[in-house]
Amino acid sequence: MNIRKILEKTGDMPTLPSVAARINSEILKESLTARRLGAIISEDAALTAKILRLANSAFYGLSSQVVSVEKAIIILGFNAVKNLALSISIYLFFRKGIKTNIDVQGLWNHCLGCAVAAKILVEKTDKRLGDDAFLFGIIHDIGKIILINNHLTEMEKVLGIMKEQKISQNAAENEVFGFTHQKLGGLLLKEWKFPENIIAGVRLHHDLPPNPKKLDHDAAQTIRALCIGNQMAKALTLGKSTDPGRMAIPPQMWKFLGAGKDDLPALSARIKEEYGNILTAWAAK
Ligand SMILES: [Fe+2]
Ligand SMILES: [Fe+2]
Repeated sequence: MNIRKILEKTGDMPTLPSVAARINSEILKESLTARRLGAIISEDAALTAKILRLANSAFYGLSSQVVSVEKAIIILGFNAVKNLALSISIYLFFRKGIKTNIDVQGLWNHCLGCAVAAKILVEKTDKRLGDDAFLFGIIHDIGKIILINNHLTEMEKVLGIMKEQKISQNAAENEVFGFTHQKLGGLLLKEWKFPENIIAGVRLHHDLPPNPKKLDHDAAQTIRALCIGNQMAKALTLGKSTDPGRMAIPPQMWKFLGAGKDDLPALSARIKEEYGNILTAWAAK
C-alpha cells in the first residue's frame, strides 16, 4: 500500500479539528498570543469546559479553582493550555463506537499513560519541557488510530499476524502496509502543520536511543522522555497498547534524563498516581 496514496486519497485524508488547525496555523505565522489562544478556545464551549475540568483536576493540583480559559492560561501557562487544546483535538480521533476487537479505549489510555510518564520524566531535569512532553505522549501513536479508523481490516490483519508470527507491530505493519504507524503519523503531522520537533518525536518514538541529529537540545530531551514514557506506560500497564512488546532502554538515555534504574520505583509510583488523576478528570462528564 502506498503511504502517499493513503494520505492523498480523497475522503480518506483525516482532517484536524478546526480549533487545532487554527492554533497550528497561528503558531506557524508566529501570531498566536495568549489573548488569541483564549479567544480561539472560548469559541468552542465543549472544548472550554473540558480544558477547565482538566485544569481543576488533581493532575495539576492548583490551590484555587480556575473559572475561565484566560485564568487557566495565566495560572497553568500558555504552553500547557495550548497543548491541552491540541490533546483534546487528538482525542476526537479515538472513536470508541467503532466495531472491532481492537481495544481503542485501551490504546487511548496507553497514550494518556505515555503522556503522563513523559511529562514526569522530562521534568526531572527541565520543568519547561513538561507540557510539550505531555502532548508528544498523547499524539505519538496517532498513525495507529488513523489506520484503525480508515483501514480497519488491514489493521486487524496486522494484529493477527503479530500474534501468529510473534513479531512486533512494526514488522507486521511493514508486511501489510509497507510502512509503520510512526512513519504515517509523522507525515500526517506534517500535513497538519505541527512543528518539526513533534513530528520528529512521532517519527522516532520506537528508536531506542532516538538519533537526535539535527534536533536541538530541548527536542532531543523531550523525545528521549517520550521513548521511555512509551515503554513505561507498557511496563506499568497504563492502558493497553496494541503492541505489548517492550524494548530495553539504553542506560545513556536514562542518564540524559538525570535518572537511573534506582529511581524506577519512585518514578513508577508517581507516574501511576498522576495517571489515575488524569484518567479520572478526562473521563468525567
Ligand atoms: Fe508506537
Ligand atoms: Fe505507544
